[in-house]
Amino acid sequence: MTGGDQDILLDCEAVSCTLATSRGPLALLKDVTFRLGRRTALGIVGESGAGKSMLIKGIMGLTPSDITVAGRIGLDGEDMVAMPEARKRALLGRKVGMVFQNPMTSLNPFVRVGRQIDEASRLHLRLGKAEARARAIALLSQVGIPDPQECYAEYPHRFSGGMKQRIMIATALACEPELLIADEATTALDVTVQKDILDLLQALQGQRRMSMILVTHNLAVVASRTDELLVLYGGRVVEYGPTERVFAAPRHRYTEALLSAVPRMDEPAHTRLRTIPGRPPDPQDRPAGCPFAARCPAAEERCRQEMPGMTLDADGRHGFACFVPVPAPGPGATAARAEATS
Ligand SMILES: Nc1ncnc2c1ncn2[C@@H]1O[C@H](COP(=O)(O)OP(=O)(O)O)[C@@H](O)[C@H]1O
Ligand code: SF4
Ligand SMILES: [Mg+2]
Repeated sequence: MTGGDQDILLDCEAVSCTLATSRGPLALLKDVTFRLGRRTALGIVGESGAGKSMLIKGIMGLTPSDITVAGRIGLDGEDMVAMPEARKRALLGRKVGMVFQNPMTSLNPFVRVGRQIDEASRLHLRLGKAEARARAIALLSQVGIPDPQECYAEYPHRFSGGMKQRIMIATALACEPELLIADEATTALDVTVQKDILDLLQALQGQRRMSMILVTHNLAVVASRTDELLVLYGGRVVEYGPTERVFAAPRHRYTEALLSAVPRMDEPAHTRLRTIPGRPPDPQDRPAGCPFAARCPAAEERCRQEMPGMTLDADGRHGFACFVPVPAPGPGATAARAEATS
């Protein structure tokens, strides 16, 4: 999220997603602003219902017809919100690859693996049949499929969950995307497989010099795999900044609570997982003020009345929307704590 515009791949400004209901418009996502640099990995985190998938659907033009997307979503300098549908499809198809939580919702069980990978590259890169096949087999090999030629000719249902997700990743890479988005891509998998898939995504991002967005409810997933972090709560960005800085010194009370709920390696195995007491607000009765007020141990009267604006730290890279932020650590403390978590 640094540098001039040339370095920015995705630029979201005041993005909102509003649902039309019989009782009037309902904001599911409001005023989401962030910039994603080229070759940068961004983690989007927050509890279930925070609006993470809604944001990704908004970016990908996948929102249902009763949801209106507003604001600016710039991809490589072009505003997709204002763009005709066909052009947007072509742009997204060429530049963005997507991996979902359940590979079977995006892989067609009745179509052979090879054809599913070839379809995208033949359409968007205009490759011939033989060329597309050779590339697909190379991709299957890169994502760690043991026998890529055999896999190419098989149906997806023949493979385990982890292997299906590898196939899904190969499909997402078919058009050499500049941005790979993984929305809870490992949530449905066994813990050991999760780590393998996350390591694969991280390696591919580096090798292919892509940008990546990892969407997750699990902060441990993004800790060592992303450069930047965006924390969503109640459909709003509550904190963002360089991942190391946010982990070392969170300023928003929600981020602090979320971080203290992540199990630490140095805790005994039987330690009970801490959770944040209470539940996130329903979009239908979100409070007028800070969305976290009902659960926040530091809440003051003002928090319930007014929406806190974004406060930026000295270099403008770390922002938080909180009236009573966690005190900033003294000089030197951030670096020391960052070292301790890495
Ligand atoms: N198609 C939809 N119609 C109405 N409300 C929706 C729809 N999809 C999601 N929502 C609501 O929008 C909010 C954000 O959902 P979502 O983005 O899926 O959360 P997350 O991915 O962070 O768990 C939730 O309150 C959810 O109930
Ligand atoms: S604005 Fe107030 S209620 Fe919201 S997180 Fe900060 S202290 Fe808590
Ligand atoms: Mg989701």
